[in-house]
Amino acid sequence: MANVTLTINDKAVTVPAGTTVLEAARQAGFFIPTLCHSEENPGFGACRMCVVEIQGARNLPASCVTEAANGMVVDTESPAVIEARRTIIELLLANHPTDCLTCDKNGDCRLQEYAYRYDVKKSSFEGQKKSYPIDDSNPYILRDSNKCILCGKCVSICQEVEGRAVIDFAHRGFNTIVTPAIDQSLGESDCVYCARCVAVCPVAALTYKPMAGKGRAWEFTKKSVTCKFCDSGCKFNLNIKDGKVVGVAAQPPGKSRPLCLKGRLGIELLYVDQPLAPMLKKDGEFVEVTWAEALNLDDVLEKLKAVEK
Ligand code: FES
Repeated sequence: MANVTLTINDKAVTVPAGTTVLEAARQAGFFIPTLCHSEENPGFGACRMCVVEIQGARNLPASCVTEAANGMVVDTESPAVIEARRTIIELLLANHPTDCLTCDKNGDCRLQEYAYRYDVKKSSFEGQKKSYPIDDSNPYILRDSNKCILCGKCVSICQEVEGRAVIDFAHRGFNTIVTPAIDQSLGESDCVYCARCVAVCPVAALTYKPMAGKGRAWEFTKKSVTCKFCDSGCKFNLNIKDGKVVGVAAQPPGKSRPLCLKGRLGIELLYVDQPLAPMLKKDGEFVEVTWAEALNLDDVLEKLKAVEK
């Protein structure tokens, strides 16, 4: 495949023809913020967070849908680009709840991250606010449409990766919403609780219900485990806090297959609120011990013999 060479922030970058400016910039080590772009959802071009300045272009193109070309000169952080990104963030914040102090997504929210990066403290746009009821009808997924930024990632993952198409865009203009068919609740829909939509949601429009109030992203360590309930070998993450498993989460797309209901329920029974290490009663108290100690055959045999007597 032919290559093209372009200049990004004064650095010559050579990439295969067909590569987008976003991919070329990332390969060269430059940061470009994105909200709607993902590997499963390339070319959606809805949020415009990824705009860049390209010499000779009449406007600021979205880098995720612009192909790199020979001789192109790109600036990823020019004053005009920064101003455009600040305006987009302000427009999103104009009707986005700012309950970051108590939001479960605090510290793991793209909108919050970019507002901080581009120093947007509040929106200068005043207008109508959304006031949808929170949909908690689904046993695993909480849907807060007031926080939805309409990036379309959840729609795409449900349709293109899972092949289920449980949710889609509905209505128009300010009333556009991501919802199951005929405005059903998520609980009434055909959702199978894989929670991949939660894994790709950049804000807190979709959150994992059993994890609500159990901790913030930075408090969890993640452990990848393979489900043993069938021979598909799906991997998922255990969220661990203070040495205890507090939840099971789908892995980001591309890393594993989705987690099905059977796997999720089984895994929760196996791991959640269960000790990660074997426990042994010593002086009337259960204490963590090593597997070597727990599986000390003599000890186990002695105890079994004692029970027989
Ligand atoms: Fe490029 Fe949204 S990330 S338009």
